[in-house]
Amino acid sequence: MDQTALDTTPVNQTTNKLWKFGPALPDVKPIASSGDPDWQQAKPAAIARALQLALARPHGNWYVVDAARRITDKPRRLRIAGRELVAWRANGEIVIAPDACPHMGASLAEGCVRNGNIVCPWHGLELGSRGSGSWKPYSVHDDGVLAWVRIGAADPQVPAPVLPKRPDFFIEGVVRMEAKCDPADVIANRLDPWHGVHFHPYSFAGLKVLALTEDSITVRVAKRIVGRIVVETDAIFFSPEPRSIVMTIIEGEGKGSVVETHAAPIDEGRTAIVEATLATSDRAGFQHVLKLQRLIGPLIERSARRLWVDDVAYAERLRELRLL
Ligand code: FES
Ligand SMILES: [Fe+2]
Repeated sequence: MDQTALDTTPVNQTTNKLWKFGPALPDVKPIASSGDPDWQQAKPAAIARALQLALARPHGNWYVVDAARRITDKPRRLRIAGRELVAWRANGEIVIAPDACPHMGASLAEGCVRNGNIVCPWHGLELGSRGSGSWKPYSVHDDGVLAWVRIGAADPQVPAPVLPKRPDFFIEGVVRMEAKCDPADVIANRLDPWHGVHFHPYSFAGLKVLALTEDSITVRVAKRIVGRIVVETDAIFFSPEPRSIVMTIIEGEGKGSVVETHAAPIDEGRTAIVEATLATSDRAGFQHVLKLQRLIGPLIERSARRLWVDDVAYAERLRELRLL
């Protein structure tokens, strides 16, 4: 990474000197309230309003599953929206179906895959993507990074999961975690960027809100590389559907990169969080970096997982408070 700027201006409330790396950001006037203490800027009513707008958006009954690459020829048991499912690949295509054999109910996830069909471990019935009687695979969608399943009625207005604009070239990292909360708690966590500096001080050195609308937040954030060395970027948070929230870098290092946080209910009070980071860069030579996916992907995932240790606690706390 080139050093294109050396700035010792304190960022936000941080009094320590910070060394900023990466391209200089345009001069943007933060909103008037951005000088207020974070706890005053983080207005519960505004966060709740943004959440309500997100929850009201169409979703087509699509639920995120995991990274598409994690569905393999080996059957995998899943639980989404209270249903037991089995997922596998048949001739390269993802199949997701009820995890109960239509004969006597054995768990198909304990079977094996033969010629693209799943073979029941009890009496050997072979079941394929065309189904058998009332046993039918669900509609699935492979967006190239994530796998999705539709549980419930199809909505002609939403024939595929609602996805944000993604970069053309990227290095990806996908993490999946479980939390004792509901999907809305995960979205609410992300609609509050003001907690970042306080709750993840090891990761964020500063944050200013540049723009705020009813349903989007644009921030200038100083992310720590190591110690006081930071990279500053402008990013916008927006929730395109009720169980997803997306952060897109709009200025600075990695412009065009996105972090998609998706949440799928496992059961009431239990949620799977699937977060995809698609990192891009317009720096010369990024095409060569793409070849390092196997090396860099796990580093992206390690960093995402670390943040989610805290954010799972935050989301779980939200649910506890709701149930009081
Ligand atoms: S329970 Fe599956 S074949 Fe009998
Ligand atoms: Fe957080």
